[in-house]
Amino acid sequence: MITAKLPHIFYGGDYNPEQWPEDVWRDDMRLMREAGVNLVSVGIFSWAKLEPRPGQYVFDWLDRVLDLLAENDVFAALATATASPPAWLAKLHPESLPQDAEGRRYSPGGRQHYCPNSAAYKERAAELTGRLAQRYKAHPALALWHINNEYGCHVSECLCDVCAARFRQWLSARYKTLEQLNERWGTAFWSQRYDAWDEILPPRKAPTFCNPAQQLDYKRFMNESLLALCRAEAEILRKHTPKVPVTTNFMGFFKPLDYFQWAQALDVVAWDSYPDPDGVPEERIHAACAHDLMRSLKGGQPFVLMEQAPSQVNWRAVNAPKRPGVMRLWSYQAVARGADGVMFFQWRASKAGAEKFHSGMVPHAGKQTRVFSEIASLGQELKKLDAVLGCRVEAKVALVCDWQSRWALEQDSKPARLDTVRHLRYCYDLFYEQNIPVDFVQPEGDWAQYKLVIAPVLYMLTARAAENIRAYVNAGGCFVLGYFSGIVDENDQVYIGGYPALLKDVMGLSVEEWRPHPEKCVAQLPGRPEEIPCSTWVDVVNVKSAQVSAVFASDYFAGKPALTINEYGKGKALYAATLLEPSWMAWLMSGFIEQLGIRPALPAARGIEAVVRSKPGRQFLFLLNHNQKPETVDLGPWSGKELLSGKTVQGRIMLEPNGVAIVERKK
Ligand code: GLA
Ligand code: GLA
Repeated sequence: MITAKLPHIFYGGDYNPEQWPEDVWRDDMRLMREAGVNLVSVGIFSWAKLEPRPGQYVFDWLDRVLDLLAENDVFAALATATASPPAWLAKLHPESLPQDAEGRRYSPGGRQHYCPNSAAYKERAAELTGRLAQRYKAHPALALWHINNEYGCHVSECLCDVCAARFRQWLSARYKTLEQLNERWGTAFWSQRYDAWDEILPPRKAPTFCNPAQQLDYKRFMNESLLALCRAEAEILRKHTPKVPVTTNFMGFFKPLDYFQWAQALDVVAWDSYPDPDGVPEERIHAACAHDLMRSLKGGQPFVLMEQAPSQVNWRAVNAPKRPGVMRLWSYQAVARGADGVMFFQWRASKAGAEKFHSGMVPHAGKQTRVFSEIASLGQELKKLDAVLGCRVEAKVALVCDWQSRWALEQDSKPARLDTVRHLRYCYDLFYEQNIPVDFVQPEGDWAQYKLVIAPVLYMLTARAAENIRAYVNAGGCFVLGYFSGIVDENDQVYIGGYPALLKDVMGLSVEEWRPHPEKCVAQLPGRPEEIPCSTWVDVVNVKSAQVSAVFASDYFAGKPALTINEYGKGKALYAATLLEPSWMAWLMSGFIEQLGIRPALPAARGIEAVVRSKPGRQFLFLLNHNQKPETVDLGPWSGKELLSGKTVQGRIMLEPNGVAIVERKK
């Protein structure tokens, strides 16, 4: 359970009472009760109202808001309010504004206009955080701390002089000597050698490609700079309220922040999911994938869906509303995949400002609306799910997701542009369609619980990761590695002598060259006449001990392996020299994946998502009908109480379009 104070699925949203006169607040409380709201995120953008002038704090309005919430049995995820500094900070400290790669300062007037290394910003943010914690530490409404907001969302990098100086300190801690830095950055190339620390700059706009190791280290440094802000606030909060969990809101696969690192700093993972209702099924699968990533960040611990849109957003070129039933369906998708909270941006749709056409739980048109009535009925319905709290999703398959490798891979000057998330998604979708649960792991993480681990692309491979993989396979694990993997070390320096470096013996092969985007390339599986297209990539592989399962059938690499299996220790290591097409997956599935005991939650039926959440003694099967027609689902061995209707079910169940069922089975 995320907090004993609130032993229910969290339900609510961002609450911005400062945008409304106080008489509206009473109405808010009445409507929150009607909607079954039990938690709201308060004060996320309130800094200018809490500290209208430097050092002059005004808390009385927030006192009244929190008292009102407590009187109405609504808890607060109280924000530290540091996401949008007041105008006076930029006026007093122009250097607190971030600077882009071309040397331009951002202006205030939007939000997130702070340099993560600005001393003024850090001091003022810490002071405000401390005062909020001090004042509200014993307030009965306080259930959770919401640190800042979507770190890095608009400004993930600052390249100002202050950051440059901090970067040099960071580098000198990492490399100790300039000689080491020159070596690790490969500065013999293009006369980039440094003779003094103060010659080193952030990777600002240069005539052509910047040094890739410098760029990579800057990404690490910025990630850590932002994380340091979050940690600093968390530390202040924990000092005052050691028992109140802290969180901030993540953004799924957001590239600039290594969320595996970030999750360590927080008590609970929370994230914001905004699938485009016009982009189904792609967007709905992406949301599922990101939910699974969020669940994986803290080893399977339940997370919070901190924000989603009640209906439409305001920031796409075309902002489609969610059709009737879709908001409910997608909320249950989050719960099915491990969320213990379903929250929205925002409670009441704004009257002014850039987000006034973003949907709210309470629309401009008021409570007699489709959106509010769907919100209210979901809030009431979620009260039936207390038993699901704390349940886990158990996966035997894991996909390797490594931010560091992604940062390196997606820099310029590569054989072709490769998109890490697209590769993860490609693999993920094959399992998603089969209703086979998948976790995400780091290359150096603990893989003991998984039967099958797949790294669709692991361009950067550290010595520790290679050891982890070797030990996993040796002990009986099954590992699948995709092409263009094991190419560079942590400084983006190429391993000499063939790929995947450090793992050639485990994979039983060596790659000597590649052909991105081959034309009309096909491959064939043994004993199968059909030709499978391989249009993304070809690694030209020389086999040592691996067995060849499929070969390329065209071009100068005809006859070379496309898919191999190597027995290593007690396990198996597969190498995919091209993107595995779904027909290969079907072939793999019918072979050893089944032997590994990897089974779907329920046999797949198109558009029916099935996920199991469980805890000792209890199991819940979530069924989601994403189709626009009613579907009858064969429940197989599942029979018991269906939580939403309260009826006992067995055999088959009928799901309405966008319909949901949750069947409990006692173990
Ligand atoms: C030009 C430059 C070389 C090298 C090549 C790469 O010819 O003169 O230094 O960068 O491009 O194609
Ligand atoms: C993000 C932010 C919110 C709001 C929404 C709009 O999730 O955290 O403040 O801007 O986007 O979709």
